Amino acid sequence: SVLEMEVEQINKGKYEHYMQKEIHEQPESLTTTMRGRLIRGGSSKAKSVLLGGLKDNLKTIRRSRRIVFIGCGTSYNAALAARPILEELSGIPVSMEIASDLLDRQAPIYREDTAVFVSQSGETADTLLALQYALENGALCVGITNTVGSAIARHTHCGVHINAGCEIGVASTKAYTSQIAVMAMMALVIGDDTISSQARRNAIIDGLVDLPNKVREVLKLDQEMKDLAKLLIAEQSLLVFGRGYNYATALEGALKVKEVALMHSEGILAGEMKHGPLALVDENLPIVVIATRDGCFSKQQSVIQQLHARKGRLIVMCSKGDASSVCPSESCRVIEVPQVEDCLQPVINVIPLQLLAYHLTVLRGHNVDQPRNLAKSVTTQ
Ligand code: G6P
Repeated sequence: SVLEMEVEQINKGKYEHYMQKEIHEQPESLTTTMRGRLIRGGSSKAKSVLLGGLKDNLKTIRRSRRIVFIGCGTSYNAALAARPILEELSGIPVSMEIASDLLDRQAPIYREDTAVFVSQSGETADTLLALQYALENGALCVGITNTVGSAIARHTHCGVHINAGCEIGVASTKAYTSQIAVMAMMALVIGDDTISSQARRNAIIDGLVDLPNKVREVLKLDQEMKDLAKLLIAEQSLLVFGRGYNYATALEGALKVKEVALMHSEGILAGEMKHGPLALVDENLPIVVIATRDGCFSKQQSVIQQLHARKGRLIVMCSKGDASSVCPSESCRVIEVPQVEDCLQPVINVIPLQLLAYHLTVLRGHNVDQPRNLAKSVTTQ
């Protein structure tokens, strides 16, 4: 109806689509996610994190033999992005489960496990069924959702709301970055506050505080991503290579392109390049390589060299100022992003890819907010 259309326009404000609005809203949604949860001590005092929803269960979580992340789609990818920092700070083995696959395998879950259910809607059928299964098996169940009162929020023992605000676009964007921020805070809360980890912990907390500013900075790449989308508009396929903290970014970037732009795209773990993907490389197939500064940087530099040696069409994402050191040739395109603490870099790096997917979709004339065949919340198995 006319009224519905008008309400929609008011909700979208100056934006044409919800996905676009939600991408650009991320400095604010991240601010809300962290509000009241980061405690910055004075210059000499230690900084800390408070997650009220977990505090009564922290002892049990810290004693667990394993932490298992369970989710679907973008929520699974967010957990994958947070896995390395949780492993580093807690020292507890962290495993990853796609909810449907866990159910298909009826995989072992024990009383000594902490099972973390990640879901924007809190209503995804597979995730909810996996939760019932984990409850029956006696695990401590933690929920990370964006929806107060949702089934997953109600049925878990404890949890954290991501407070990203209502997300309407079917393709998740702001919920993804808020989920990563929450799970990074969770890693800080679960991890031991030892003297040896103090500097690292403080750097991450400072990084979280400054993250909305860095997100504002990376959003300025909007026009650049639109130009890149124009170049890629007629492509059949796009590969995205990542590793370490940014393996998840590769998967999530590819998922965005697939979901909304209806273009085949695959996120590839760069360490697996030689075990198959290299066969696809030629002068036509566009390849995004994520090579921002972190412990994997030199390995990614060598991946770039090898792709270049096979005449790969490269688009390299690197830290600001690194363009000349990562680009093997004139024809290589670069996406320069602000550098943040390594474990938070996935929040920054996904944004140009969200923008790229958005612009590709609009240019290709597809429905941005409701891609064909997909639903925001999949409540059937
Ligand atoms: C659907 C949506 C995705 C979402 C996934 C998991 O497939 O289209 O955007 O990532 O469900 O949803 P959840 O609400 O559990 O995060």
